[in-house]
Amino acid sequence: MDDAGSAFRVPSFVNLGRVGRLEMECWKVSVEWVTIGPHRLACGDCRDVMSSLAPASIDCVVTDPPYGIEYESGMTGHDGGTALPGIEGDSDTSLRDALIEWMGNTPAIIFGSWKRPRPAKCKAVLIWEKGDHVGMGDLSMPWKPNTEEIYIIGKGFSGHRGSSVLKFNAPTSWNSVGFGRKHPHEKPRRLMMELVGKCPGETVFDPFMGSGRTGEACAKLGKRFIGVELCRDHFETSCRRIEDALHAEPLLAGCA
Ligand SMILES: C[S@@+](CC[C@H](N)C(=O)[O-])C[C@H]1O[C@@H](n2cnc3c(N)ncnc32)[C@H](O)[C@@H]1O
Repeated sequence: MDDAGSAFRVPSFVNLGRVGRLEMECWKVSVEWVTIGPHRLACGDCRDVMSSLAPASIDCVVTDPPYGIEYESGMTGHDGGTALPGIEGDSDTSLRDALIEWMGNTPAIIFGSWKRPRPAKCKAVLIWEKGDHVGMGDLSMPWKPNTEEIYIIGKGFSGHRGSSVLKFNAPTSWNSVGFGRKHPHEKPRRLMMELVGKCPGETVFDPFMGSGRTGEACAKLGKRFIGVELCRDHFETSCRRIEDALHAEPLLAGCA
């Protein structure tokens, strides 16, 4: 937010008639909070949020931080000319590493790239296979880079003992009307449900929530979500997504 006063303005995407339970509040000048049912979403820098949030108030971290690879999309937007924006804080892994230091022994699922050192305390590596339709990279190579790594930290995860290769098609078609991803690094809904469904405890924290896929999975699975996003456009996408998930038919009837 530019100033404290504007933090109290109700943004245009909020349909108060329908939402009812959604309220806006200002916690700090630089961080704006929105409450959607049991979920709390902040627009601001996650380092500001973490300086006031006790790690004991969350049960698990599920996040997709800037990988530290200076990501620049080769794709363009709908006008065919403008390059898609890069990712904030992507010059190194310092944001990810600050999170890991802050969270102490909290269990975590953290996305990353093989091009950078794996995080400290990594216990297992899952591979997300994104499908054959993605993976440009170096075209002189006879393999396409259509996988990403997912790091498991800590313990307490449970559920069906499946493969560590998770095959879920990546969303495509940035900016397509009514369909397609809303964020250049958007994760598939079903992948996030698979991961969040194995997390211990009730409250999941995503300090780099992007377009809100972790929060959406929490809302659908009956977990409580705390999310942070620096970029206002992505924050608003997250709010809409989580609000929609909260009002959709519950996937797990009776699951609190
Ligand atoms: C890799 S993307 C997450 C995409 C997300 N998994 C999704 O499905 O949409 C990382 C996000 O972290 C945000 N970010 C970068 N630095 C941040 C910071 N200091 N605090 C909060 N968010 C930050 C970026 O704006 C970006 O949207």
